[in-house]
Amino acid sequence: MAGAIYRNPLLFAIASAAVIFTGTVVTMLYPMLTPAMHPKLAALKPYTALQLAGKDIYQREGCNNCHTQTVRPLKTEVMRYGEYSKAGEFAYDRPFLWGSKRTGPDLARIGGKYPDAWHYRHFEDPRAFFAESNMPSYGWLKDRRLDPAEVEAHMKVNGFPFTPLEIASLGSKTELDALVAYMQAIGSAVERKGAPGGGAVTEERNPLTGDGEAVRNGRDLYSRNCAACHGEHGKGAIGPDLTDAVWLGSRGNISDGKLYSIIANGTQAGMPPFHATLDKGKIWSLVAYLRSIQGK
Ligand code: HEC
Ligand code: HEC
Repeated sequence: MAGAIYRNPLLFAIASAAVIFTGTVVTMLYPMLTPAMHPKLAALKPYTALQLAGKDIYQREGCNNCHTQTVRPLKTEVMRYGEYSKAGEFAYDRPFLWGSKRTGPDLARIGGKYPDAWHYRHFEDPRAFFAESNMPSYGWLKDRRLDPAEVEAHMKVNGFPFTPLEIASLGSKTELDALVAYMQAIGSAVERKGAPGGGAVTEERNPLTGDGEAVRNGRDLYSRNCAACHGEHGKGAIGPDLTDAVWLGSRGNISDGKLYSIIANGTQAGMPPFHATLDKGKIWSLVAYLRSIQGK
């Protein structure tokens, strides 16, 4: 009897189609409809109207041709960008913007990495921060107003909650405001961790104290890595004044070791960590330079 099925091409085709179909339903279609296939992180929130407008601009400008938005679970990637991407992060990304080419760095952990002011300056002139950046300038986005009606329509299509007040407030916002708001929203459902391998030192006192060469090196490092945020002479811009005796909001001096740790590890309020890009000697040189401009 079983042999008959192999001798009849039509019967064989129908029987094998039925088997493949059943297999597809059981192993693919059915699981796709179960909640476990649609994970959502507990802290994940739908985009606000301003953030969604920014996401639309990100797509329109093709930022995903140069930037990815997914950190692979490889040690090198996690060291460079932070926590690897989770399936539950993308539930509200329709479509997701993972990208496939990194001309610029991955942006999956860009939210909260820099203060807003950094993004405004960087979009207006990427080369103010990185002389060799080939990222185009997007300063012109600040001359374009958002269209609240269009954003409202996109919010509805996505089924995201919004209030009429929120939509009305978009009238006074520019496309650049929206893009910055979107940058800060990316990856915000995942707890931000400093890259592993931190920058703690045991010395309380700078081993390079009184070393004139270190101060000169420090000045050079400062102008390349820090001046864009703290001003050419350390008087403050996006980041605070480094010549006064106020450190992270408290008055009074701190040890060299603490200063080292601020530079190496960064802070949650917008000071980026430098332990991955600057070695110990360089950070101590920076500390020596900062000491030399204290009170000036
Ligand atoms: C031609 C490729 C290119 C395009 C297009 C591009 N970028 Fe970039 N981007 C870069 C490069 C290269 C860098 C690294 C140097 C720098 O920061 O300027 C960068 C850096 C960045 C950074 C800083 C990342 C970090 O962790 O320091 C952000 C944020 C960013 N880009 C956002 C965008 C957005 C948003 C768009 C679209 C409006 C965009 N980029 C378009 C190439 C590009
Ligand atoms: C992206 C902008 C940015 C860059 C680049 C940057 N900083 Fe900061 N820095 C900040 C911000 C913002 C703060 C305030 C952080 C806070 O209050 O938690 C800060 C705080 C500090 C502090 C504490 C000072 C105080 O008065 O509270 C020191 C010291 C410091 N930065 C040193 C440096 C050095 C050295 C570099 C270069 C290696 C550097 N920063 C690069 C933004 C930046």
